[in-house]
Amino acid sequence: MRMILVGPPGAGKGTQAARLVKTYEIPHISTGDMLRAAVKAGTELGKQADGFMSKGQLVPDEVVIGMVIERIAQPDCEKGFMLDGFPRTRPQAEALATALDEAGVALDAVVLIEVDDALIEDRIVKRRSDPETGEIYHLDHRPPPPEIAERVVQRKDDTAEACQKRLAKYHSETAPIVPFYEAAGLLARVDGVGAPDEVEVRIKAALA
Ligand code: AP5
Repeated sequence: MRMILVGPPGAGKGTQAARLVKTYEIPHISTGDMLRAAVKAGTELGKQADGFMSKGQLVPDEVVIGMVIERIAQPDCEKGFMLDGFPRTRPQAEALATALDEAGVALDAVVLIEVDDALIEDRIVKRRSDPETGEIYHLDHRPPPPEIAERVVQRKDDTAEACQKRLAKYHSETAPIVPFYEAAGLLARVDGVGAPDEVEVRIKAALA
């Protein structure tokens, strides 16, 4: 299964990807996670990306495209992969299509998780994650268990201000890739409102 999860910030892409990769036994490739790891490690890529990410802007295409094309050429992606957060612009979608064509493989599905803008800020500012396991929590819907409550962290870009910028970027840069995949007959729209278990069932039904 070669698939993409698309959706606004806070739609639940990371939450759902963590569940779906277990079912489909494919690697979870999150460009956000890859970039945050590079920032943490202080690599050249991380230094370039940090300023864009903390302001809620997109990292330039030329930086991200190379990183993903290299990643999906790894042996663990031979039988498939789940892309989360990529592509995010039309040039990224076109570069991915070219790379897959050259490799003689095709995408199976693109799932768009739809959540109304009005619900996004609450999901973003109340998100916390466990730096040890990568597990994602929400202060109200899925509070971190007491034994790890002290170590959970908040992302630098999870402020109300950066959230609004990320949302605006989603509408201007990422939403235009939706018709690209719709025209290719690959797009499945899934309602992302409801408990994560319900959303997971909807995604699996759409993929089936
Ligand atoms: P990235 O890490 O990809 O962030 P994002 O797309 O903004 O998405 P998020 O991780 O914020 O949200 P999510 O949809 O995964 O939601 P989650 O499951 O965590 O990118 C970060 C930055 O990196 C970008 O701004 C950009 O600068 C850069 N970048 C990354 N990729 C790039 C690219 N391709 N090109 C250029 N730049 C790039 O859930 C959110 C919260 O909601 C959690 O608290 C969760 O518990 C809760 N929640 C989840 N599901 C539900 C539900 N069903 N009901 C209630 N709460 C829920």
